[in-house]
Formats: sequence, C-alpha cells, structure tokens
Amino acid sequence: ALVDTRVPLPHWPQAFFAVSNNVHRPGLLLSDLEPRDAGLAALRQQGPDAVLAEIERAGLRGRGGAGFTTALKWRFCREAAHPEKVVVCNADEGEPGTFKDRVLLTSYADLVFEGMTLCAGIIGAREGFLYLRGEYRYLLEHLEAVLQRRREQGLLGQGMADTGTDFDIRIHLGAGAYICGEESALIESLEGKRGVTRKRPPFPVTEGYLERPTVVNNVETFLAAARIAEHGGYWFRSEGTDRSAGSKILSVSGDCERPGIYEYPFGTSIARVLGDCGAQRTQAVQVSGAAGATLGVDEFQRVLAFEDLPTAGSFMVFDDSRDLMEMVRNFADFFVHESCGFCTPCRVGGKLLRDLVEKVAARKASRHDLDEMRRIADVMRRASHCGLGHTAPNHVLNTLDKFPQIYASRLASADHTPAFDLDAALA
Ligand code: NAI
Repeated sequence: ALVDTRVPLPHWPQAFFAVSNNVHRPGLLLSDLEPRDAGLAALRQQGPDAVLAEIERAGLRGRGGAGFTTALKWRFCREAAHPEKVVVCNADEGEPGTFKDRVLLTSYADLVFEGMTLCAGIIGAREGFLYLRGEYRYLLEHLEAVLQRRREQGLLGQGMADTGTDFDIRIHLGAGAYICGEESALIESLEGKRGVTRKRPPFPVTEGYLERPTVVNNVETFLAAARIAEHGGYWFRSEGTDRSAGSKILSVSGDCERPGIYEYPFGTSIARVLGDCGAQRTQAVQVSGAAGATLGVDEFQRVLAFEDLPTAGSFMVFDDSRDLMEMVRNFADFFVHESCGFCTPCRVGGKLLRDLVEKVAARKASRHDLDEMRRIADVMRRASHCGLGHTAPNHVLNTLDKFPQIYASRLASADHTPAFDLDAALA
C-alpha cells in the first residue's frame, strides 16, 4: 500500500510495459517478512569476526550487478588505516526495468537497515547513509519512521544493539540522475558535489566519502547479509551455483501475465522465469537493464549467474508483437538523457548513436550508417570515462548482432544505392 505506482519512471518503456510490486516467488531472502534483528543478536553474542566469517562462508557477492565478494569488501574497509569508516546503502535504483529495491525498502526496510548496522559493527563505522533514488521520494517518510523506531528500540544510535558501537543512518535523497547509481558519483553527490564518477582505484573501501574508508553496497546485499547473520553461511550456500551462491531477486516486467518480484536460486534459466511469469510468444528478453544483454529465443536456456548472465535484477520480456526497434530507440534516448556530460565519447557519441538509430527507424539509413554505429559504439566502449559510456552502446550492438532484421528491413526501402557489381562492369 505504501508504493505509489503513479510516480513516473522516466525513460522506462512503461507505455507498453506492465509493472507490479507483487512478490510472486519468495525464496531464501523474501519468504519471511518479520523483523527479528536476529542478525544483530548474532553480532552481540558471537562478535564481528564470527559474523564476517559467516558472510564469507556464504560466498555472498554484491547484488548491484558486478558481484564483488561482500566479505572481502568489508574486510578491506575494516583494515583501512583511516579510523572513521562509513556505510552507504546504494538505493539509487535507476536501471530501466529494475524495481526490486523499492519493494525491499517498502516491505523489508528493517532487514536492510539491520544489514547496514551489521556492516557498521563489523567495519567499525559510526556513520551510515541510505542514498535514495530521487524518484522514490514517496518512500522517505516511511523509511524515516522505520529509522526512528529503530533508534527508539536501541538498534541505532548510541551504544546501538549493545554492541558498544554508536551508529546511525541518514537518508540522502538523489535528484534523478542515473549516473549517481555508480558508487563514486554517488559519493560525490553525497558530498554535495555534481555527480561525476571518480577514477578508481582508489576504491571507496580505502577512499570514499570525505576520503574516508566507505563500504557501498546495494539494498539487496545488505538484506542478504542480515539473513546470513541469522541463518548462517551454509544455509545461504544451499542454493545457487559454486561461483554464485544463494538467490537473486528479479524485477520481471513486460509481456507476461504476472509481472512483479521473483526470487530464484542462481543458476535458474531464462526459460524457467518465462514459464513462471506466464510469458508467451516471447521474442526477446532484456536482462540487466538498458546496458545489459538482449537475448533471443536460442539463448533462453542460459542461466542467471555471475558465470553466465550477471544481473542487478532487471528482466524485461518482449513478445513477438513488439517492434524491437522501439526498445532500441527508447534505450538510445535514455543514455543521451542520462550521460553526465563530463566526457566527450559518452556525451557526443551517445547523441550520434541516437541520431543514427532515429535515421534507421525513419527508413533513411544506409548500410554505411550501420557501420558507423559500430564505429561510434567502439569509441564509446574504449574511450568513455566510466561504465555508463562503456555500456551505453550495448543494446545497439546486441540487436545489430542478434536481431539484424530490425535494421535490414528498414534499409531495404531506404538503401537506393545499388551494390556495385564488379563482374558486370568488367563484362
Ligand atoms: P566494479 O566491478 O568496478 O566494482 C564492483 C564493486 O567492487 C564496487 O563497489 C567496487 O568498489 C568494488 N571493487 C572492485 N574492485 C575492487 C578492489 N580491487 N578493491 C576494493 N574494492 C573493489 O563494478 P561497478 O562499476 O561498481 O558497477 C558496475 C555494475 O553495476 C554492472 O555490473 C552493472 O550491471 C551494474 N549496474 C547496476 C545498476 C542498478 O540499478 N543496480 C545500474 C547500472 C549498472
């Protein structure tokens, strides 16, 4: 009831995409809503080393998409020389088609804050931030109320949870920039500056917020850490694959009967998810958002796992009634809008790419334009300052390779230049 689905989500192919906050398939992480703070109890009773060892045993990897080992990140931060450590929860969920974090913050906020508090207890932080996506402003009041209740319960603030640590969490509201989901731009924004990415290394674990050692993790990672502290590393490892332990929460949207939130053990195939959500006549699935992978039917046996298809959780279904060129146009426009403008390859390259996509869509492009798209994409991938520019052309390259007909069919009428026939000319 707390979720206001009227909040506009810019650049989402929402016009034709069904989105729902229903949780359809709760698993390890989502099956239990009740906050018990049992993870914090474990921290009190067993101490930070034992809880960190459980998180290590669990093999938990970051749920924001990249999959860095969580225990290693926390250990690096703990061992950093600077004494004032910081915990940041990245709730700047901006990837098109991703909406699982807003459901976690709506229904499981206690667990997310518990995970942050555990991290603070382990690395020795006194200060924490939840960086909330600007479009999720409607959640602010609810989240502040949860924080206040936790302070009153002694789970935050001075001597919190009887661990002898003082730790509190502040909420920082973003202003709608996709780039601020990248951790170093997020930190710049937290410091009150323009959201531009920093060069890494140094990584935030050694030099983050105000040059202090900072752990930045996704909402789902903190929630998983809280569950692991309660149930143990082996419990978590009981699902998933060798290199991708546990389960992953997905935001499933698009052409299916049951859009919403699903939780699957890592190693689950695309076909399985499509079956469960009631998708039919599916021609493509976009995994991991606009910058992710476009999969055709021949790839539906591939699996969600860091070793095959890593994902932050976006799963968009396109049935055969869709014109995939509309998806390409939408994403191209998205990346032009969201480029921070700092570097030329991303700022100018994105626009040139979008213009060429529009030219194809308008049936005015030639084969030369398709070559030019690949050339611009290559420059963006190699020369952009950060991951946004590196991945912005993915959807164009993916569709050029896997769905060439959406381009070729538009060239046919526009490509008036007859191919030069050398044999005929020499005859
Ligand atoms: P990355 O692989 O560079 O880093 C991942 C994490 O590990 C970061 O927190 C980084 O600080 C840490 N790390 C990496 N190497 C380290 C080292 N040697 N020492 C200490 N810490 C280290 O990935 P990045 O650029 O942070 O994120 C890219 C991912 O973000 C992609 O997988 C993409 O799918 C995802 N993404 C997620 C979105 C969302 O809405 N959740 C939106 C856009 C992209």
